[in-house]
Amino acid sequence: MRKKSILFVCLGNICRSPMAEAIMKKIIDNNNLSGSFTIDSAGIQNYHQGQMPDQRMQQHAFARGYLLNHHARQVTSLDFEAFDLIIGMDDSNINSLEQKASTLEDKQKIRRIADFFTNKEIDHVPDPYYGGAQGFDLVIDLLENGCNNLLKSLHEETE
Ligand code: 4NP
Repeated sequence: MRKKSILFVCLGNICRSPMAEAIMKKIIDNNNLSGSFTIDSAGIQNYHQGQMPDQRMQQHAFARGYLLNHHARQVTSLDFEAFDLIIGMDDSNINSLEQKASTLEDKQKIRRIADFFTNKEIDHVPDPYYGGAQGFDLVIDLLENGCNNLLKSLHEETE
């Protein structure tokens, strides 16, 4: 498999996308594929630039066996050159990414994480920032499923 680079994107880059980054890194590590991937995350906004993930996301992640060590950063136009796939968490992220994409090739790199969910009735990863504990667990449940299926789909592509 050719080395693939994947950027996960949410609004603030302190909850969903750093969680997706950690989950995807663990999955590819468990499959001994770390050398074949570059995984990162970024936010549409720059409000939390440089910050570690939200404490609540960190705690829920830790309870499920993940350590979050990403520092928030904003998506830039260079990301469209550097990454093969740019994966948003909800429609608002996708719309913002489409606005940032300057060429058709850039646009074609954009995907919804929900496209990889087993349950086709769920079409986004709900923003947990203003909600309770359940929302953070749901983020992890959805992203574990989506990231596992994403890796499978990349394998199928290269078969
Ligand atoms: P995220 O969650 O997009 O999953 O990182 C949010 C984090 C911060 C804000 C909104 C959503 N905020 O408005 O500051």
